[in-house]
Amino acid sequence: MAARGEFSSKFGFILAASGSAVGLGNIWGFPTQAASNGGAAFLLVYLVLAFCLAYPALMAELIIGRHAKSNAVNALRLISTNRFSYHMGTLTGFVGIITASLILSFYALVAGWMVCYFLAPIAALAGMQDVADWLTEFGLYRNVTFILIFMVLTVAIISGGVKDGIEKWSTRLMPAMLALLFLLIAYVLTLDGAMEGVKAYLLPDFSRAVDVNLIVGAMGQAFFSLSLGVGTMLIYGSYISQKENLSYLGRMVTFVDIGIAVMAGMLILPAMYVAQHNGVAIFDAAGQLISEDTLIFTVLPALFDTMGITGIFISAAFFILMSIAALTSSISMLEVPVAYAVENHQIDRKRAAQFIGLLIALISVAIAFNFEILFGLTIRVTTQMSQPLLGLMLCIFAGWIWHRNNMLQEIKAGYPDVEQSLFWKIWPSYVRYVCPVAILTVFGQVVFA
Ligand code: TRP
Repeated sequence: MAARGEFSSKFGFILAASGSAVGLGNIWGFPTQAASNGGAAFLLVYLVLAFCLAYPALMAELIIGRHAKSNAVNALRLISTNRFSYHMGTLTGFVGIITASLILSFYALVAGWMVCYFLAPIAALAGMQDVADWLTEFGLYRNVTFILIFMVLTVAIISGGVKDGIEKWSTRLMPAMLALLFLLIAYVLTLDGAMEGVKAYLLPDFSRAVDVNLIVGAMGQAFFSLSLGVGTMLIYGSYISQKENLSYLGRMVTFVDIGIAVMAGMLILPAMYVAQHNGVAIFDAAGQLISEDTLIFTVLPALFDTMGITGIFISAAFFILMSIAALTSSISMLEVPVAYAVENHQIDRKRAAQFIGLLIALISVAIAFNFEILFGLTIRVTTQMSQPLLGLMLCIFAGWIWHRNNMLQEIKAGYPDVEQSLFWKIWPSYVRYVCPVAILTVFGQVVFA
C-alpha cells in the first residue's frame, strides 16, 4: 500500500483545515441565521458556543485522528477499551460517514448556486442576457446542472490526495478569498444605510439571547462551521505530522473560522440594510426576513448593482470566491467516505472518489427534485441533530473511554511541555463533563421543544 498522505507543513494544515471550516456555513449560513435571529443576540450566543463547545470538540477530533492515523471508524475502534465501546466506535464512525455524505448532498446544491451567480454577470457582459436570467432564476434544470459541475470539481481534487489535492488547492484559494472579503466590507460600510445594519449586528437585544430556537440554531451553526462530528477534522488530524503542536493548530483554525463568520456578518447585515435603503424588500410586514435561504442571492446582487460597471466585476469575483470557499469545504466532506473506502477496503483512491461522488450527486439531485420537502429537512437532521450527537460521542470517547495517559502522550508529541499548559489543566475534564452535559442540554431542547 502507498505511504499515507501527510500535510507538508503547519501552514498547509492550517489552510486546509480552515479551508474545510470556512465555507458556505460562514458566509451564507451564519449571516442568514444571525439576520433572522435578532442579529447581535445570535452573534453573542454563537461566540460563546463556538469557543466553549465547538473548540474543545475540535481538539478531541484532531487528537484522536492524529493518534490513530486513520479514518473515524478505525480510530474509535483503536481507542476503545471493550466490546461495547468498540461497537459504539464503529457505529459513530459510520453515522459520521453517512452524515458527511448527506451534508455534501445539500452543500453541492447551494454551492452550485454560487457558481451560477459567478457566471451570470459574465454572461450578461457578453450580451447573453437570457443565459444570465436562466442562471439566476431558481429552476430544476439549472440546479441539477450545477450540482453535477460542482461534484465533478470536488471529485477531481480529492482524487489528487492530500498534498497535491487538498493542500495545494487550499493554500491557493484561501488567501484570495480573505482579501476579497475585506475589500467588500470596506466598500459596503461607505454606503447609505450600512450603519443601521452594523447596529443590528453589534447591539444585542439580550431578551432574544435566551430564545431556545436561537440557542439550538447557534449550536448547530457552530458545529457545522467547524466541520465537526462527522470525522472530517479527525481525518485531517490524521494527516498532521507528529512534530506539530496540536493545541496551537486547533486554536488557529478556530480563530480563523469564527473570525471569518463574524466578518461575513459585517458584510451581509450592512448589505441588507443598504439594499433596503435602495428599495429592495428584505423584511415582510411581520418583520420576518423574506427569503431566508436565498437571502444573499437577493441582497448581494442588489448591492453590486449600486456599483455600476465595477459591480459586475466585483459580483463575479465575490461569487467565484464563494464557489472556492465551498470547494475547499466540500472536498473535506468527500474525504470522509473516500478515506474509509481506501483504508478499509483497499479501493483505489480515484475510483473511490468517483464512485462515492456519483452516489452523493444522485442524492443531491433527488433533493433538487423534491426541494420543498427535502432541502430544509436534510439540513436540520444533519446539522442540528446528527452533528451535535456525534460531537457528543467524540467527547465521550476522548473524555471517558480513551486512557488519559495515552491521550497525554499523543498531545505531548509536538508539544513536550503540554502538562504545564492551561490547555492540559482544563481541557481533559472539560470534554469529560462540561461538553457532554452542555450538548445534551441544548440537544434536549431540539427533541422536547
Ligand atoms: N464548515 C464548512 C462550512 O462552514 C462546511 C463543512 C465542511 C462541514 N466539512 C464539513 C460541515 C463536515 C459539517 C461536516 O461551510
